[in-house]
Amino acid sequence: MGCSIIKAVKILVLHGPNLNLLGTREPGLYGHGTLAEIDAQLVAWAEERGIGLSCAQSNHEGALVDTIQAASQRVDGILINAGAYTHTSIALRDALLATALPFVEVHLSNIHAREPFRHRSLLADQAMGVVCGFGALSYQLALEGLVTVLEQGSDGNN
Ligand code: DQA
Repeated sequence: MGCSIIKAVKILVLHGPNLNLLGTREPGLYGHGTLAEIDAQLVAWAEERGIGLSCAQSNHEGALVDTIQAASQRVDGILINAGAYTHTSIALRDALLATALPFVEVHLSNIHAREPFRHRSLLADQAMGVVCGFGALSYQLALEGLVTVLEQGSDGNN
Protein backbone atom coordinates (compact mmCIF):
# COMPACT_ATOMS: atom_id res chain seq x y z
CA MET A 1 0.00 0.00 0.00
CA GLY A 2 1.44 3.37 -0.96
CA CYS A 3 1.44 6.45 1.16
CA SER A 4 1.80 10.07 0.15
CA ILE A 5 3.31 12.97 2.02
CA ILE A 6 1.45 16.24 1.65
CA LYS A 7 3.99 19.04 1.75
CA ALA A 8 2.75 22.51 2.72
CA VAL A 9 3.39 25.16 0.09
CA LYS A 10 5.82 27.84 1.29
CA ILE A 11 5.70 31.42 0.02
CA LEU A 12 7.97 34.42 0.45
CA VAL A 13 6.26 37.83 0.36
CA LEU A 14 8.78 40.51 -0.51
CA HIS A 15 8.18 44.26 -0.31
CA GLY A 16 10.54 46.78 -1.86
CA PRO A 17 11.45 50.41 -1.19
CA ASN A 18 9.14 52.84 0.58
CA LEU A 19 6.52 50.21 1.29
CA ASN A 20 7.55 50.40 4.95
CA LEU A 21 5.85 53.82 4.86
CA LEU A 22 2.40 52.48 3.96
CA GLY A 23 -0.27 54.08 6.09
CA THR A 24 1.24 57.55 5.84
CA ARG A 25 2.72 57.48 2.32
CA GLU A 26 0.41 59.08 -0.28
CA PRO A 27 -2.71 57.54 1.28
CA GLY A 28 -4.86 58.69 -1.67
CA LEU A 29 -2.89 56.26 -3.83
CA TYR A 30 -1.86 53.53 -1.43
CA GLY A 31 -4.56 53.60 1.26
CA HIS A 32 -4.34 53.95 5.03
CA GLY A 33 -3.37 50.38 5.87
CA THR A 34 0.14 49.74 7.16
CA LEU A 35 2.57 47.12 5.88
CA ALA A 36 2.28 45.30 9.22
CA GLU A 37 -1.49 45.06 8.70
CA ILE A 38 -1.07 43.71 5.17
CA ASP A 39 1.45 41.12 6.37
CA ALA A 40 -0.79 40.12 9.29
CA GLN A 41 -3.74 39.53 6.93
CA LEU A 42 -1.62 37.39 4.62
CA VAL A 43 -0.22 35.39 7.54
CA ALA A 44 -3.74 34.82 8.92
CA TRP A 45 -4.97 33.61 5.52
CA ALA A 46 -1.91 31.39 5.10
CA GLU A 47 -2.39 29.83 8.56
CA GLU A 48 -6.01 29.05 7.75
CA ARG A 49 -4.95 27.40 4.49
CA GLY A 50 -1.98 25.58 6.01
CA ILE A 51 0.52 27.55 3.92
CA GLY A 52 3.97 28.52 5.16
CA LEU A 53 4.44 32.27 4.66
CA SER A 54 7.24 34.66 5.52
CA CYS A 55 7.36 38.39 4.80
CA ALA A 56 10.29 40.74 4.33
CA GLN A 57 10.79 44.37 3.32
CA SER A 58 13.85 46.35 2.33
CA ASN A 59 14.61 49.73 0.84
CA HIS A 60 17.85 48.36 -0.61
CA GLU A 61 18.16 46.61 -3.95
CA GLY A 62 21.08 44.41 -2.88
CA ALA A 63 19.30 43.34 0.30
CA LEU A 64 16.28 42.32 -1.78
CA VAL A 65 18.59 40.28 -4.03
CA ASP A 66 20.12 38.64 -0.92
CA THR A 67 16.67 37.76 0.42
CA ILE A 68 15.61 36.24 -2.91
CA GLN A 69 18.81 34.18 -3.10
CA ALA A 70 18.45 32.98 0.50
CA ALA A 71 14.83 31.94 -0.12
CA SER A 72 15.48 30.05 -3.32
CA GLN A 73 15.93 26.61 -1.71
CA ARG A 74 13.44 27.29 1.05
CA VAL A 75 10.20 28.39 -0.64
CA ASP A 76 7.98 27.27 -3.52
CA GLY A 77 7.01 30.68 -4.82
CA ILE A 78 7.49 34.41 -4.35
CA LEU A 79 5.03 37.28 -4.16
CA ILE A 80 6.86 40.52 -4.89
CA ASN A 81 5.96 44.17 -4.79
CA ALA A 82 9.31 45.57 -5.85
CA GLY A 83 8.05 49.17 -5.61
CA ALA A 84 10.03 51.50 -7.86
CA TYR A 85 12.61 48.76 -8.52
CA THR A 86 9.92 47.09 -10.63
CA HIS A 87 10.63 49.70 -13.28
CA THR A 88 14.42 49.77 -13.04
CA SER A 89 16.03 46.67 -11.58
CA ILE A 90 17.73 44.16 -13.84
CA ALA A 91 19.35 42.80 -10.65
CA LEU A 92 15.98 41.84 -9.17
CA ARG A 93 14.86 40.32 -12.45
CA ASP A 94 18.06 38.25 -12.61
CA ALA A 95 17.75 37.18 -8.97
CA LEU A 96 14.17 36.01 -9.50
CA LEU A 97 15.13 34.14 -12.67
CA ALA A 98 18.11 32.52 -10.92
CA THR A 99 15.78 30.92 -8.38
CA ALA A 100 13.68 29.40 -11.18
CA LEU A 101 10.75 29.80 -8.77
CA PRO A 102 7.33 30.99 -9.89
CA PHE A 103 6.62 34.53 -8.77
CA VAL A 104 3.73 36.97 -8.93
CA GLU A 105 4.22 40.72 -9.31
CA VAL A 106 1.97 42.80 -7.06
CA HIS A 107 1.14 46.49 -6.86
CA LEU A 108 -1.30 48.35 -4.68
CA SER A 109 -1.94 50.95 -7.37
CA ASN A 110 -2.79 50.41 -11.01
CA ILE A 111 0.63 51.18 -12.46
CA HIS A 112 -0.86 51.37 -15.98
CA ALA A 113 -3.10 54.26 -14.99
CA ARG A 114 -0.14 56.30 -13.68
CA GLU A 115 2.94 58.00 -15.13
CA PRO A 116 4.35 56.37 -18.30
CA PHE A 117 7.59 55.34 -16.54
CA ARG A 118 5.51 53.08 -14.27
CA HIS A 119 3.93 51.25 -17.21
CA ARG A 120 7.14 49.33 -17.86
CA SER A 121 8.02 46.42 -15.58
CA LEU A 122 11.28 44.52 -15.80
CA LEU A 123 9.65 41.59 -14.00
CA ALA A 124 6.20 41.18 -15.54
CA ASP A 125 7.10 39.16 -18.64
CA GLN A 126 8.72 36.53 -16.41
CA ALA A 127 5.97 36.51 -13.76
CA MET A 128 3.31 33.84 -13.43
CA GLY A 129 0.90 36.73 -13.13
CA VAL A 130 0.57 40.40 -12.24
CA VAL A 131 -2.03 41.87 -9.88
CA CYS A 132 -2.34 45.63 -9.51
CA GLY A 133 -4.86 48.29 -8.64
CA PHE A 134 -6.75 46.66 -5.78
CA GLY A 135 -4.88 48.26 -2.88
CA ALA A 136 -4.01 45.81 -0.11
CA LEU A 137 -6.38 43.32 -1.72
CA SER A 138 -3.88 42.96 -4.60
CA TYR A 139 -1.63 40.95 -2.27
CA GLN A 140 -4.46 38.68 -1.16
CA LEU A 141 -5.60 38.00 -4.74
CA ALA A 142 -2.04 37.36 -5.88
CA LEU A 143 -1.38 34.99 -2.97
CA GLU A 144 -4.56 33.03 -3.65
CA GLY A 145 -3.62 32.74 -7.33
CA LEU A 146 -0.05 31.64 -6.66
CA VAL A 147 -1.01 29.10 -3.98
CA THR A 148 -3.85 27.68 -6.07
CA VAL A 149 -1.57 27.11 -9.05
CA LEU A 150 1.21 25.64 -6.88
CA GLU A 151 -1.22 23.27 -5.18
CA GLN A 152 -2.51 22.16 -8.55
CA GLY A 153 1.08 21.42 -9.53
CA SER A 154 0.74 23.28 -12.82
CA ASP A 155 2.24 26.44 -14.17
CA GLY A 156 -1.16 27.97 -14.78
CA ASN A 157 -0.89 27.73 -18.54
CA ASN A 158 -2.44 24.34 -18.92
C1 DQA B 1 3.93 50.38 -6.30
C2 DQA B 1 3.95 51.12 -7.64
C3 DQA B 1 5.35 51.63 -7.96
O1 DQA B 1 5.35 52.33 -9.20
C4 DQA B 1 5.85 52.56 -6.87
O2 DQA B 1 7.17 52.97 -7.13
C5 DQA B 1 5.72 51.96 -5.51
C6 DQA B 1 4.50 51.23 -5.17
C7 DQA B 1 2.52 49.95 -5.91
O3 DQA B 1 2.41 49.06 -5.04
O4 DQA B 1 1.53 50.49 -6.40
O5 DQA B 1 6.58 52.13 -4.67
O6 DQA B 1 4.72 49.21 -6.44
